Amino acid sequence: MECIVPRLGRRTFGQRLPPVVGRINFCVIDLTLFGHPNIDFKMTCPIPGGFLVAIEGIDGSGKTTVANLLAEFCKQNRLSHIVSKEPTKGTFGKQIRDSAIRGRLTVEEEVDLLTKDRKEHVETIIRPALDAEKIVLLDRYYFSTAAYQGAHGADAEAILKSNESFAPQPDLLIVLDVDPKTGIERIKQRGDEPNKFETMESLHKARQIFRHINRPFKVLVDAEKKIEAVSFFVGKTFQMTAMNKISKNDFSLRGLNRTREFFGADRLPIPSAA
Ligand code: TMP
Repeated sequence: MECIVPRLGRRTFGQRLPPVVGRINFCVIDLTLFGHPNIDFKMTCPIPGGFLVAIEGIDGSGKTTVANLLAEFCKQNRLSHIVSKEPTKGTFGKQIRDSAIRGRLTVEEEVDLLTKDRKEHVETIIRPALDAEKIVLLDRYYFSTAAYQGAHGADAEAILKSNESFAPQPDLLIVLDVDPKTGIERIKQRGDEPNKFETMESLHKARQIFRHINRPFKVLVDAEKKIEAVSFFVGKTFQMTAMNKISKNDFSLRGLNRTREFFGADRLPIPSAA
C-alpha cells in the first residue's frame, strides 16, 4: 500500500521479505494498523472552485473507460472526486432511458426531459461537489443533448446556449471521436444491442455535431487509437488543464503546494522553499 508521509513525500510501503516459514513468504506492512500519527490518508481538494470534466462522444467511443481511468488517477493521488452520468437514474432520466428501449419521443419531449434531468443533476450533485472543490467527472453532459437531439432536428447551438444559462461550463470537455461503425462494433462486442438512439444515421449526425462544437475548453481525441494511446493523451491533458486552473487562481506558495498535491510530491520537481 501507499501512504503520504509529510516532508518525505509519497512512499510505497509494500515490502517483500525473505521466506520465513513454509507458506508465509511475504508480508505487506500496513501502517494503518498501527495508527501512525504522521500519516495523512485524507483526500485532498487542490483545485480552487473544483474541476469539472465532461466526457462525451457517440456510444461505443470509450467514455466509461476514460471516466474510470481518470477516477483511478484521482484515487491513486488521493484527489477528492466523484463520477456521475447522464441521463441520471432520477425520474426524468429514467423516462429517457425507457424511450431508448421502447421508441423515441418527439425531439421537444426529449429536450424537455433531458433539461429537467440536468437541472436536478446540477442542483443535487454537480454544484455541491464543485462547491466542495471536488473533481467532477461526467460521463455525458449537455453536449450530448446538442449532438443527439441536434441530430434529431433541434438547433444544436441554441441547446448549448440554453444549457449554459443554468449548468456550469466544464473546465475540460473531452470529445472521444470514433466512426459510428467502430462504435456499433464495440457496443456489440461488449454484448449489448444498439438502442433507439444508436442508428447509424443518427450516430453519423451526432458525431459531426460533436466534432463541430466550438468551445475553448474542448479537446477532440482520436478514439480510434488504442486505449493506451487515448489514456496517455487524456491523462496528460487532464493534468495540464488542472494545473493551469490552479496556477491561474493561486500563484502563491500555497498554489504551488496545491499543484504539488495534484501531481504527487515525487513526480514534480519543485525546488525546496529554503
Ligand atoms: P448512455 O448510453 O450513455 O447510457 O445514454 C443513453 C442514451 O441517451 C444514449 O444513446 C444517448 C442518449 N442521450 C441523448 O440523446 N441526449 C442526452 O442529452 C443524453 C445525456 C443522452
